[in-house]
Amino acid sequence: MGLRAVIFDLDGVITDTSRFHYLCWKKLADQHRIFFDEEFNERFKGVSRKDCVRMLFPEIKDDVQLHELAEQKNRYYVEMIRQITPADLFDGTRELLCELHEHGIKTAIGSASKNTLLVLQKLEIAHWFDAIADGTEVAHSKPAPDVFELCARKLRVACSQCVVVEDAQAGIQAAHAAGMTAVGVGSRDLLPEADWVVNSVRDVDLELLNRLVLENQRLRAGEDKKGRQVGDTGGDHWVVCRFK
Ligand code: BG6
Ligand code: MG
Repeated sequence: MGLRAVIFDLDGVITDTSRFHYLCWKKLADQHRIFFDEEFNERFKGVSRKDCVRMLFPEIKDDVQLHELAEQKNRYYVEMIRQITPADLFDGTRELLCELHEHGIKTAIGSASKNTLLVLQKLEIAHWFDAIADGTEVAHSKPAPDVFELCARKLRVACSQCVVVEDAQAGIQAAHAAGMTAVGVGSRDLLPEADWVVNSVRDVDLELLNRLVLENQRLRAGEDKKGRQVGDTGGDHWVVCRFK
């Protein structure tokens, strides 16, 4: 029972690489005179490069052409992330990881990005995590549960004892598909399915994560089958019962 592991998404959760992904897709879209804005980009968050390029160029069916476009975007992205330094780690990440480790909670990175290791190396934090699973290891990207299930297997922890911290709707859905609790980072409008929403990792602590896991475990165990909202429904935070 209770929390045993926390799985962090990478892009947009512990560093601002989500912005870089957006700028690179935008550059590619502009070159091809395709409309692309931040709203459209929301659908790209958490989604593999291959799936994103298909969404941006739905009329192109030729795999070779799609592959070349995806490679072009990646060249822009790899160039952009060269500038990342340890100072680009979001505030609160180090403190949260320390708190989790002090209490024996395992930590992992679960990201769709095939550049995960490169970004973690630039941030100099790869060794902070007990496991890393990324887009190079799974067949299906978020919203499929693959990457988070792989994290749980690597950590040897049951999915019901994991919390995922995510900034993408596809990532929240992937966490739920894996049977995990999902904390959204961002706005509740964009992450309506999250069990809880915070503005940043600074607003996450062990007490919150543990409480959310216990609530979900209780709901699963059938202690509250009413399918109504539970927890704090005021302020910026709320919990929605998913186990109806
Ligand atoms: C996710 C991002 O983390 O990684 C997506 O949210 C991105 O926007 C995906 O498309 C794949 O990244 P990469 O680095 O493999 O192109
Ligand atoms: Mg993300």
